[in-house]
Amino acid sequence: MAGGYDTDDTAGLPDPATLPGGEAADAAWIEVIRKMDEVYADLVRYQVELEHKHAELEEAHGFISGVLAAMSDALVVCDSEGRIERVNPALERLTGRHEAELHAQPFASLCLPAAQPLAGALLREAEADAPVERELLLAGPGGTAVPLAFHATVRRDATGHRLGTVLAGRPVGELRRAYEALHHAHRELQRTQQQLVQSEKMASLGRLVAGVAHELNNPISFVYGNAHVLRRYEDRLRRYLGALHDGVPPAALARLRTELRIDRLLDDLGSLIDGTVEGAERVTDIVQNLRRFSSGGSGEPERYDLAEVVRTAVQWTIKGEATHALTLACELPGPLWVIGQPAQLQQVFTNLVQNALDATEGQPAPHLALRASSSDGWHCIEVTDNGPGIPPASLLRVFDPFFTTKPVGKGTGLGLSISYGLVEAAGGQLSAANGAAGGAVFTVRLPAAG
Ligand SMILES: Nc1ncnc2c1ncn2[C@@H]1O[C@H](COP(=O)(O)OP(=O)(O)O)[C@@H](O)[C@H]1O
Ligand SMILES: [Mg+2]
Repeated sequence: MAGGYDTDDTAGLPDPATLPGGEAADAAWIEVIRKMDEVYADLVRYQVELEHKHAELEEAHGFISGVLAAMSDALVVCDSEGRIERVNPALERLTGRHEAELHAQPFASLCLPAAQPLAGALLREAEADAPVERELLLAGPGGTAVPLAFHATVRRDATGHRLGTVLAGRPVGELRRAYEALHHAHRELQRTQQQLVQSEKMASLGRLVAGVAHELNNPISFVYGNAHVLRRYEDRLRRYLGALHDGVPPAALARLRTELRIDRLLDDLGSLIDGTVEGAERVTDIVQNLRRFSSGGSGEPERYDLAEVVRTAVQWTIKGEATHALTLACELPGPLWVIGQPAQLQQVFTNLVQNALDATEGQPAPHLALRASSSDGWHCIEVTDNGPGIPPASLLRVFDPFFTTKPVGKGTGLGLSISYGLVEAAGGQLSAANGAAGGAVFTVRLPAAG
């Protein structure tokens, strides 16, 4: 121990009470010295303890100061009267005022005059234990306004007694900028998404138009060809009738009749007219299907034959892709009555067939099969291709918007996500799997109409 005093030094001395005269006085002195020794030893012990406590306190102080200095949010500690006790460096920076200058000033004095009532309200709300956030305009350097979002909480001692208030403020400008950047990014994303949905729609429409054009081509060239033949017949009929009216002798008339092949012409006329009418009817059918498609999603739900819609979708999509040497197996015995919007299901099957066409492109013998079945009040249509199929890891992701494995410009990754939504909206399910023989199988299930 510091000082090296050992209180046991006096242990061997005789008891002063037993000593006579001067000896007794000596003994009293020795006793005094012993007591002083004891007191001194105690003092040294207290000194050491005090040094310990001081070091601990310094450490705690350093820790708190470090935390306060590192905070980017402003911090103000007030007493129970709302007077400033401490502030952190962030607040000093924002207000351009030093802690010493702010000490014992009312909290409200940090604010611009217009914001001072709000500062008072914030302290009162904290007192009522209703922690709220309020935006206050602090007076910055040179009278500038520094908006901070303040949060106030009550500060208590160990016994729960209220000591004052702690206020933490975050610069609103920063928050606002972050919010605006987020908002901007969000808007940008929405616009891009709309553009992509639009381009997926345009691509679908392009395919549809190509398919319809192909489909219309047949009956129209049919009608056109028939009209040509009729025009030639008209000439021959005119010549024959002219001879008849001019009173040509019967023998010459018979010759002319043979020469102009009038009997064959008359036999032909019926089937020519039938063929023309049939062609016109096919055009009408196509236009009707087209109308149904163009009604979009706005129409009222109606009862329709799903098999018919699927057939049209398949025909138009495949015809639109003139270069594709695809074999098609359609087992769609109808009618399969369902309720909903046929245009939407047509879009779904257009997407599924187009994906199958994409998947089988370059295959040696591309094949597409559509198979319908019905059971337990559900109609089910499977679209199977003999492409490479879907990697197991992608089976769930294919329905995610923007998931595509196709090069830019070829795929948007929206076809299946839109189709999934359309089938769900119709009360059904769309699922993806791989067939036993390889290739993808997409299944659409829809509730059958009673
Ligand atoms: N029949 C299929 N065979 C293999 N993969 C497919 C098939 N259909 C869809 N996929 C996969 O799902 C992805 C998403 O399809 P889709 O949503 O229609 O978008 P996109 O056709 O624009 O890529 C495709 O890029 C492809 O990887
Ligand atoms: Mg697609």
